[in-house]
Amino acid sequence: MSGLAVRDLRVVFDGFVAVGGVDLDVPAGDVRFVIGPNGAGKTTLIDAITGLVKATGSVTFDGHQLLGRKVHRIARLGVGRTFQTAAVFEELTVLQNLDIAAGWRRSPLSLLRARKRVPEPVAAALSTVGLSAVRDEPAGTLAHGQKQWLEIGMLLVQDAKLLLLDEPVAGMSQAERDATGELLGRLAADRTVLVIEHDMDFLRRFARTVTVMHAGKVLSEGTVAEVQADPRVQEVYLGHGVA
Ligand SMILES: Nc1ncnc2c1ncn2[C@@H]1O[C@H](COP(=O)(O)OP(=O)(O)O)[C@@H](O)[C@H]1O
Ligand SMILES: [Mg+2]
Repeated sequence: MSGLAVRDLRVVFDGFVAVGGVDLDVPAGDVRFVIGPNGAGKTTLIDAITGLVKATGSVTFDGHQLLGRKVHRIARLGVGRTFQTAAVFEELTVLQNLDIAAGWRRSPLSLLRARKRVPEPVAAALSTVGLSAVRDEPAGTLAHGQKQWLEIGMLLVQDAKLLLLDEPVAGMSQAERDATGELLGRLAADRTVLVIEHDMDFLRRFARTVTVMHAGKVLSEGTVAEVQADPRVQEVYLGHGVA
């Protein structure tokens, strides 16, 4: 019951089947990687879970049906996602971004003032994502990796229990990738994490379980070693230089 359960999920764009009947179980506490070639339907899967695109089938998180609910209702049920391009307010500080995400209705003026006391959930999020030292810096001055971590921090202050991360390490340096891999482990301590990622080296190091998507369907599932040894996976990735 607890965790994410996807049943016969379908998303059709103008007759084109982007997700064609996906079943997926991500138990609480898992770090599930979803891989697959470009166009496999990975982002659309997350879009459907978070209510951004229309879908049929069933998606439950901790027993609550998500399909058919509005985006903000799904977020309130503890489902948070990041985008392939980080969406943070560049002119505001790290702390102000977290404040806004937390939804405390502070006046614009008070938001712009430096804060003396940082509320506990915000301090905890800063520490988890490793941004405590730069909390008063404008988000626009952060390194690429730090922006992704800030986005994750914004989900943490919203108390997201299911984190859906769309290619969080794309464009990151090796050091940022390592830090992100370790962050995933910390996140999963009391949450469920689904990560879309291509990088096989990153997968080998940090994935617990892997789901391989291809052409809108689940092609293979298992440990990294199991999916890498699957001839169907090797066939799909042949010539793509990924597996
Ligand atoms: N809004 C949309 N309208 C029409 N086609 C779309 C839309 N979004 C995605 N697609 C198509 O659906 C397929 C899956 O896309 P996507 O989920 O972004 O793949 P992935 O994230 O695995 O690379 C692609 O062929 C893409 O072109
Ligand atoms: Mg994508």
